[in-house]
Amino acid sequence: MAKMGSSSREAAAIVVVLGFVLSLAVVCNGGKTSSFVRKVEKSGVMPLDSDVFKVPPGYNAPQQVHITQGDQLGKAMIVSWVTVEEPGSNTVLYWSAYSKKQKSEGKVTTYKFYNYTSGYIHHTTIRNLKFNTKYYYVVGIGHTERQFWFITPPEVGPDVPYTFGLIGDLGQSFDSNKTLTHYELNPQKGQAVLFVGDLCYADTHPNHDNVWWDTWGRFTERSVAYQPWIWTAGNHEIDFAPELGETKPFKPYTHRYHVPYKASGSTAPFWYSIKRASAYIIVLSSYSAYGKYTPQYFWLEQELRKVNRSETPWLIVLMHAPWYNSYNYHYMEGETMRVMYEPWFVKYKVDVVFAGHVHAYERSERMSNVAYNIVNGICIPVKDQSAPVYITIGDGGNLEGLATNMTEPQPAYSAYREASFGHATFDIKNRTHAYYGWHRNQDGYAVTADSMWFLNRYYNPDNEFASAQHY
Ligand SMILES: [Fe+2]
Repeated sequence: MAKMGSSSREAAAIVVVLGFVLSLAVVCNGGKTSSFVRKVEKSGVMPLDSDVFKVPPGYNAPQQVHITQGDQLGKAMIVSWVTVEEPGSNTVLYWSAYSKKQKSEGKVTTYKFYNYTSGYIHHTTIRNLKFNTKYYYVVGIGHTERQFWFITPPEVGPDVPYTFGLIGDLGQSFDSNKTLTHYELNPQKGQAVLFVGDLCYADTHPNHDNVWWDTWGRFTERSVAYQPWIWTAGNHEIDFAPELGETKPFKPYTHRYHVPYKASGSTAPFWYSIKRASAYIIVLSSYSAYGKYTPQYFWLEQELRKVNRSETPWLIVLMHAPWYNSYNYHYMEGETMRVMYEPWFVKYKVDVVFAGHVHAYERSERMSNVAYNIVNGICIPVKDQSAPVYITIGDGGNLEGLATNMTEPQPAYSAYREASFGHATFDIKNRTHAYYGWHRNQDGYAVTADSMWFLNRYYNPDNEFASAQHY
């Protein structure tokens, strides 16, 4: 073996050092990790006798009232509620200032989970609603009536402004209550919530005590009875408990929360799509099969082809487990789905992907990692203006505390990350522009702790930049 001369050794050392510096430049070129100081201890679940869990007065009074879009276009609404003493009526009475009172008849269901028996769960779909109209509705006709209202979305069209709220991993802790209040009092009024999964965390209680599904339904009623929440299934909705004899996944969730999956040709309520105003929203399931040849795979393949950006310029995807996540929690859990679907998201220029699961906040750069295959070794996310921005908004308040432990250094693809509770709004202005803002619970209601102007990927695929106003 030839000996290396001293000059060769120096040269080799310089190469090694240079290589190290260069690799640091690639790896460390990350975005901002917030230094915001917050308490990190768990705030605890709200006690069962909390005012937010109060049962409405009156015999067999409807409780846990919630609504969600009932068709593809926003002309139908699914109204759901629970009665406890007896089945009561399945009828929803509804009217607007321009129409006389009408009735819609639904169905009632119940389920058992281990030693828990549910109340009577009602689901009624109201159809043929007029766009952009305020409707009043009454449930519980008979013994005790309760009245609510909602506003239907404007007719689907490319320049229709619309403001979505974004909440994930809400749970029912004191922090959850703060998040919901913050959302309600945000001057940037959300008109519908895109919920990215993990609703009530009943499965964290002994025997998955389903009483916590009921309390969560009563807690969130103050918002979801008045504006639709678009549901995504999270891991806490699975409720798979063979040790309790409960082997049918998603049993409580599917009995309580209906979605209009058939309207988009889906064969299961875990993946589906809706159009709302100028947005096309695709909901995916991290916890249903998504590999090649699976129902979800076939559905998504067809679905992406159907999106007409001249009609709905904004293509938004919801899922629970994030694909890009630089926290040390749930690390890489979204990776297998990313490998399957990311090339499609780039091809079809998805504007933004919202996920939850990680109990913190993170926003990515526009980048993709689609060059990789099993033999070429290219596995570094690169800037890609056809790729979505990935936002993790799993910071609703949950029972498990914040995810504060982050991978270091911050990866180049991560634009901003912070372990604080909050919610976000996605405010579509027209076919080209949308303003996105993340609201931290500790701030004033109007403050955005992270924000970004989105330029639509179809109509304005130039570079965009975050406003970078971080507090
Ligand atoms: Fe989760």
